[in-house]
Amino acid sequence: MNIYSFLSIGYDLLDKIWLSEKGNDPRRVIESILPNEKCKVLDMCCGTFTNGLSIARKNPNNLVVGLDRSKPMLREGKRKVIREGLNNVKLLCRDATDTRLKEGSFDYIIIGLVLHECDPDLTNKILKEAHRLLKRDGSLIILEWEKQSSIYRRIKYAPLYLAEVMCNPGYFTEFYKADKKEFFKGYGFETSLSISCNYTVVMKLKKNLEA
Ligand SMILES: C[S@@+](CC[C@H](N)C(=O)[O-])C[C@H]1O[C@@H](n2cnc3c(N)ncnc32)[C@H](O)[C@@H]1O
Repeated sequence: MNIYSFLSIGYDLLDKIWLSEKGNDPRRVIESILPNEKCKVLDMCCGTFTNGLSIARKNPNNLVVGLDRSKPMLREGKRKVIREGLNNVKLLCRDATDTRLKEGSFDYIIIGLVLHECDPDLTNKILKEAHRLLKRDGSLIILEWEKQSSIYRRIKYAPLYLAEVMCNPGYFTEFYKADKKEFFKGYGFETSLSISCNYTVVMKLKKNLEA
C-alpha cells in the first residue's frame, strides 16, 4: 500500500484549491496544446486521470491512454470516464518504468506532477521509457510545480511545499529549484514551449534527435 491509497479520494481538491484559481489553469493549457486530430496520447502516471480526461473530452479524435501503478487512483479516474461516457480512453494499471507498450507508438506523452516526487533513479527510468514510447516527432508535455514570486501564492502554496519536502526529502527541493530546460536536456529532450501557470509550469519538449 502506498500514499495514493489514501490520497485518491481527496486528490482532485488540488485542482479546486490551487490549480484552477484565477489565472492560467495548467489543465486548460495542456488541453489547448493538443490538437483534435487522430493521434495517440499517453497520460503517464495519470493518477485520477485529470489531464487525460479533459483531453479525451475536448478531442474525440484522440485515443487517450492513462497509465498508473496505483489502483485506487485509477479507480477514481475510471469513475470519471464512465460518468462522462467517453469511449476514446483506455486505462492501464502498470508501472511507468516497464509499460510493455510498443516503441514509438505515441504522438503525445504527458507527465503531470510526478517527477518532483521521484528519486533520481526513478526519474531516469520514467524519462527513458517516455523517450522510447514517443514517436520521432512526438511531444512530451511536462506539468510541474514552479517557484512562486507573489507573496500571496507563496503563502497559499506553503502547505503543499512542506508536504512535498516531508514526503520526498532530498530530491523535491533540488528538482523544484532546478533549471528545468537544462534538466530535461540531460534526458535527451529540448524545450520548445514553457508556459507559467498557477503554481506550476507547463512545458512542451521534443526529442533531441542529434543527442
Ligand atoms: C501526484 S500524482 C499525479 C497525478 C496526475 N498525473 C496529475 O497530473 O494530477 C502522481 C502519480 O504518479 C503515480 N506514479 C508514481 N510512480 C509511478 C510509477 N513508477 N509507475 C506508475 N505510476 C506511478 C502515482 O501512483 C500517482 O498516481
